[in-house]
Amino acid sequence: MVLVGFMGCGKTTVAPLVAGALGWSSIDFDEVIVDRTGKSIADLFEEYGEARFREIEAEVGSELLARDGVVLAPGGGWAVHAGRLEALPTGTASVWLRVAVDEAIRRVTSSGRLRPLLKTESPAETARALLAEREPHYARAQHEVDTTGLSPEDVTRRIVAILRPTHDLNPDS
Ligand code: S3P
Repeated sequence: MVLVGFMGCGKTTVAPLVAGALGWSSIDFDEVIVDRTGKSIADLFEEYGEARFREIEAEVGSELLARDGVVLAPGGGWAVHAGRLEALPTGTASVWLRVAVDEAIRRVTSSGRLRPLLKTESPAETARALLAEREPHYARAQHEVDTTGLSPEDVTRRIVAILRPTHDLNPDS
């Protein structure tokens, strides 16, 4: 399954929790990209530009999507591609982790993880414009969970309930 949504929606935090609940593993696209290139995401943007980062991200994405039993956490820009969510392998669920822009900004700021796209004069304005542009793409995911005000554990429970509707009803099954 794949979690999509804006920076700060909780993909990276929630993916391992969902994976733990399902007995799967989780993979964060950005972590794979950093491992493979030996560069931070910020350095990749700076040295090679966003277009090259998107190519690497797309390659990593096609490779990881071929795996079974994984919860995938792509970066927030990966799903923003015409047809990308429609082209998921059969049986791969997609969930949009929705977040209000103010909360996304708060979470991004407190994470300490630098987001090159928000290195502007007004990160809040940039985030607002970018989120408005991207929402129609994220909305193409099969499912949606609004994470605003929810803890990562609550978000996890909602995702598991979507994927395994009988999970909580039959804890022994
Ligand atoms: C990006 C989101 C980031 C990272 C890169 C670009 C985006 O990942 O891939 O900075 O375009 O939204 P997160 O969504 O994990 O912050």
